Amino acid sequence: MKGKTRPRTKKVAAGAEPDGGRGDGQLIAPVSRPEELPENRLAAGLSEYRSAAPALMVIFGATGDLSHRKLLPALYNLHRNRLLPAGFTLVGAAIDKLDSNAFRKLAIDTIAEHSRTQPADKEAIKDFAKDLEYLPVDFAKADDFKALAKRLAELDKARHTGGNVVFYCATPPPTYGMIANQLKSQGLNRGAGYRRIIVEKPFGTDLRSARELGQTLRSVFPEESLYRIDHYLGKETVQNILAFRFANAIFEPVWNCQLVDHVQITVAEPLGVENRGAYYDRAGALRDIVQNHALQLLTLVAMEPPVAFESMAVRDEKVKVLRAVRPLSSEDVRTQTVRAQYEKGWVLGEEVAGYRDENNVARDSETETYAAIRLQVDNWRWAGVPFYLRAGKRLPKQVTEIRVQFKRPPHLTFGREASRELEPNAIVLRIQPEEGISLRFGAKVPTAGLVIRSVNMDFLYTTSFLDDAPDAYERLLVDCMLGDPTLFTRSDEVETAWSLIDPIEESWRAHEPPLQTYAAGSWGPLASDLLLANDGCEWHRP
Ligand code: BG6
Repeated sequence: MKGKTRPRTKKVAAGAEPDGGRGDGQLIAPVSRPEELPENRLAAGLSEYRSAAPALMVIFGATGDLSHRKLLPALYNLHRNRLLPAGFTLVGAAIDKLDSNAFRKLAIDTIAEHSRTQPADKEAIKDFAKDLEYLPVDFAKADDFKALAKRLAELDKARHTGGNVVFYCATPPPTYGMIANQLKSQGLNRGAGYRRIIVEKPFGTDLRSARELGQTLRSVFPEESLYRIDHYLGKETVQNILAFRFANAIFEPVWNCQLVDHVQITVAEPLGVENRGAYYDRAGALRDIVQNHALQLLTLVAMEPPVAFESMAVRDEKVKVLRAVRPLSSEDVRTQTVRAQYEKGWVLGEEVAGYRDENNVARDSETETYAAIRLQVDNWRWAGVPFYLRAGKRLPKQVTEIRVQFKRPPHLTFGREASRELEPNAIVLRIQPEEGISLRFGAKVPTAGLVIRSVNMDFLYTTSFLDDAPDAYERLLVDCMLGDPTLFTRSDEVETAWSLIDPIEESWRAHEPPLQTYAAGSWGPLASDLLLANDGCEWHRP
């Protein structure tokens, strides 16, 4: 047992979530008053003291990229802020033949390199790493899962974790079903405490495969124990979309088709496909970003106010938005979508290869590295308001933002000449980088004459809040241990999103519209500008 307090446990039915799925720490008694908060939690602004019940975590694919760059650093930062539950122990599981010492060493190096808190605090990292465990596991071998079950039982006893286990599949999606079935065959999907499984996007590659995956996972774990991560939902700025809209009275009255002209959602990256060519060449920008991250942003910006910030209410409203999005016919796909691939060019001062010359990409690949689509949300609030979504690799800079552009005033009081430099009002929600929100409006230029020009009123996280925001994975890992699925995607969300993407993929496979090209380092193909120009709009250049 790691901590000082020995948790009190109570008996629950096998397989059931011991606290009704809330995971709110009812098994243990660390109900702390605010004045008892550890110093560093207060310093980190974590005044909301939520403690999860003691638990073990298994990361499948623990030696892989996601685990190294994101999960281990996130768990370390949670440990630093004392946000991990008592008795928490991580078991790394992967095919590599390592022992726990070698894994600890790997973890120390990767955390020092990738932690958001720099310079690395070597002592704190070592302290975190000392309890890490590792077990070589071949996902195809039942015996390896038997050994895992044995080790988990021992750890559970030693750490008093009440049978609670989170299984994290940081592995390629085709392995999810196999892992889940192996867990079932060893009875690891049930126990004295909760058993939850986290899977990463992509959840399938189309509606059919998403349904199949859902069925496989649900044959092992109940839906409430399935945590599908779309890491965008863990980003502070993404959560702030709801705070901005629903914690303030002044924005909602203008957030509708009466005043909004159109909405632009941009996910731009200067990166190419890095070492992920094999995956990306089968996915493309539409599946990799639009189906999940971009549509999630659309749901948050377009949804109706939920009655509470609570999983059922929030996710019900998000699904309603997706159901209101008009599916594109093949004719719509031809005229209202753009797909393109980057050619060689210059990005951030560096000469880079074209997509077809990237590692593990077919030399005649037709995969899009840029996608732009125009969607309509057919409901009372958004009738007639276009939502333009674009996502691309090898664009000039990293920007994720949502621009809500308003209509022009009905009458130019100051005349055409004075208003020549006046753009329409806009609210820009900057998800990353330079996280913040801008309101763009007209102001009189301080000259003798009368000239109106657009100016920005800016909110920047870095100037308003002194603490660094936690990484998305920190929030999501804790939420899973707490049993709070609000920021995870539900199966109906995933499936409705695929039902919007499938018709686009189908036409694209038939080369409609034709694949365009763009130079790496540009803002995408001309066709994308024309998509908006047809409506009298233009992409905002961030
Ligand atoms: C992932 C995509 O989901 O999101 C990557 O698979 C992409 O291709 C990444 O680079 C972007 O995430 P972030 O947090 O860097 O915007």
